[in-house]
Amino acid sequence: MYKVHCLNNISPVGLANLKEGYELTDDINEADAILVRSADMHEMEIPANLKVVARAGAGVNNIPLDKFAEAGIAVFNTPGANANAVKELVLAGMFMAARDIVGGIEWVKANADDPNVGKAAEKAKKQFAGGEIMGKTLGVIGLGAIGRLVVGAAEALGMKVVGYDPFLDAEKAAAISENMTFVTDLADLYPVCDYITIHVPAMATTKGMINAEAFAQMKDGVVFLNFARDTLVNDADLAAACEAGKVARYVTDFANPAVVKIPAALVIPHLGASTAEAEDNCATMAVNSVMAYLEEGNTFHK
Ligand code: MLT
Repeated sequence: MYKVHCLNNISPVGLANLKEGYELTDDINEADAILVRSADMHEMEIPANLKVVARAGAGVNNIPLDKFAEAGIAVFNTPGANANAVKELVLAGMFMAARDIVGGIEWVKANADDPNVGKAAEKAKKQFAGGEIMGKTLGVIGLGAIGRLVVGAAEALGMKVVGYDPFLDAEKAAAISENMTFVTDLADLYPVCDYITIHVPAMATTKGMINAEAFAQMKDGVVFLNFARDTLVNDADLAAACEAGKVARYVTDFANPAVVKIPAALVIPHLGASTAEAEDNCATMAVNSVMAYLEEGNTFHK
């Protein structure tokens, strides 16, 4: 009997895929497999029987890959399984930046006791006027599972898209979208985009890649969306770029203490993958990876 421990809440729909021969355990010390979402595993002592870890999500920055590799423990993630959920929140972030939905709703809440709130709202609404995203240019940095869905959605909304991905060539980029302008240098993306969204993993090579030098090349008043990881952006340089008006809005899914008080920041509490559908998909893929590995030594996602 294989024992599976869940370090975070994992969707019961996914767990229901565990076949005969598997049982859930509350005791991590007897686990053959661990299912994890966002819990940080870096300081964790490795359980004696542990053979495999599967993250119900795409990023693996909460998992000490080298430590587990040295211990011979396989690690899986679930690329693509929550991509649609993240794409939808990126679109919501773009709309929130284009139209002052958040400011308007806060105004109505603050005036909810006014019996003439409707009339007052008609007067107040000027301050919440916005713009449209149709016809604007979106830069997509990283054309993996999420980035390429964002490209399609943005084009369907009438946006022009400029895409960048160091792992693709023009032919592969054209297969994502023939209308997208594919660039091989971010210096060609930054200056032409009204909105920029980043979808790359957190790694040593991407840490702080959105810095003063990058902001300096962007259009004045750019909207920057970060639903990937907060370490990609240099906090001090972001604060300075917002203060200077270079960045009109920074929409992010990460409640980083250095960012939450920046007036131009719209901060969401890491909800990108928090949909029932994404949680079910990720958990199902994670469970299937664990079983394929334990039974067949399969290191590919099924
Ligand atoms: C991801 O890496 O896919 C997300 O951050 C998952 C999550 O929200 O747990």
